[in-house]
Amino acid sequence: MKLCMIGTGYVGLVSGVCFSDLGNDVICVDKDIKKINNLKKGIIPIYEPGLEELVLKNYKNKRLNFSANLKDSVKKSDVVFICVGTPTKKNSNSADLTQVYDVVKAVSKSINKFKIIINKSTVPVTTGDELEKFISKKVKKKNFSVVSNPEFLREGEAIRDFIYPDRIIVGSNDSKSTRILKNLYAPLISKGAKFISTKRRAAELIKYASNAFLATKITFINEIANLCEKTGIDVEEISIGIGLDKRIGSRFLRAGPSYGGSCFPKDTKAIVSTAEKFKTNLSIIKSVIRSNNKRTVLLSKRLNLILKNKIKNKVISFLGVTFKANTDDMRDSSSLKLIPFLSKKGAKIKYYDPTGSKKEFKKIKNVEFSNSIQESIKGSDVVILHTEWNDFKSINFKKFTKNKKLIIYDMRNIYSPDKIKKLGFKYYGIGR
Ligand code: UGA
Repeated sequence: MKLCMIGTGYVGLVSGVCFSDLGNDVICVDKDIKKINNLKKGIIPIYEPGLEELVLKNYKNKRLNFSANLKDSVKKSDVVFICVGTPTKKNSNSADLTQVYDVVKAVSKSINKFKIIINKSTVPVTTGDELEKFISKKVKKKNFSVVSNPEFLREGEAIRDFIYPDRIIVGSNDSKSTRILKNLYAPLISKGAKFISTKRRAAELIKYASNAFLATKITFINEIANLCEKTGIDVEEISIGIGLDKRIGSRFLRAGPSYGGSCFPKDTKAIVSTAEKFKTNLSIIKSVIRSNNKRTVLLSKRLNLILKNKIKNKVISFLGVTFKANTDDMRDSSSLKLIPFLSKKGAKIKYYDPTGSKKEFKKIKNVEFSNSIQESIKGSDVVILHTEWNDFKSINFKKFTKNKKLIIYDMRNIYSPDKIKKLGFKYYGIGR
């Protein structure tokens, strides 16, 4: 099939490359010419394990191409995927659909034969209806179909998630498009992926409800962790104990710092905002958002307690600053609140991240990037383990520091408290 992916961010690039690997002819389009030229040279704009190899392989095989010419690329394709960002609007909680509409406007000028226009961008329920109305002002209804096909790719695991999805959701109000899409996804369906066809509005809501539910699950275990800290229980035992109940499930029950990233914070706000438009009160999701916002304040307070209100002049090694491991993405990472808090309190922060230094901390007082884990830990009073990269899982603390009073605050519970204590260091985790 001839596909065109508009937007070469996480969603468009990963999906486009994976579709080309399944044997389709794919053009990945972006208005950023520099990005397109770099991709042609094999320079990947994001950190995503396995992506570079797939780009090089499929570009070489000529199944994958990159272009800044949207109109020409749409004309050459049967199926057009919209994969642009839908960030939170300024001064509001709703999704900003400017980029989606800009793309749809351009696409509607390039419809030379029947096209399926697929929204992979996360858009509020009823957006598909509105886009259909918008396009039909210029294009005959028989020449296009608007479909919702949300993605469930996690950053850092995106390729695996694409190849082995739990389900593929296609929301369409016409059976012809559903058939074509089922055909496109046939190689994944034959490997066991479940193909679910729904009405278009349902697919749009499935995406938001999924992210809101996962954010709720994380927030739930984070609040239970707070109770564990007060009662001397290890939250890890609770996660196992409740997660083994198949009705609950063990995934996304890892307590940690607040959830972040480019999706959960924005999508929880957007679904609440959409519901308000339809006069529905999503009180659970509202309280999840509130609880998550408060979480960094709570962790800051705990840090104060651990350091007996003496943060000033403490040297802190901060390991991992992105919102989670295996990504270079800083969006809504709790480090963006924790590091400035520590700096304000007069600490000296030496941070290390496997994806390098971050512009976000350039102007913050007493914050510097260390070139290695060892350099970051050396001479520190405290180590804050903020993300769960494999690189951090078996650090030889004894080798890296002479400080016998080292305090380790493990915000992802990746270390064994007993082992750390045996080394003579002080250990604090989340909910344990
Ligand atoms: C999330 C969803 O998991 C994807 O299914 C979805 O496609 C994507 O958003 C999106 O809407 O595009 P992602 O943002 O890459 O994916 O990150 P997650 O792995 O879901 O993690 C989100 C946040 O929750 C991170 O801050 C992570 O550290 C935190 N988390 C996750 C926990 O604190 N505990 C857990 O058990 C799981």
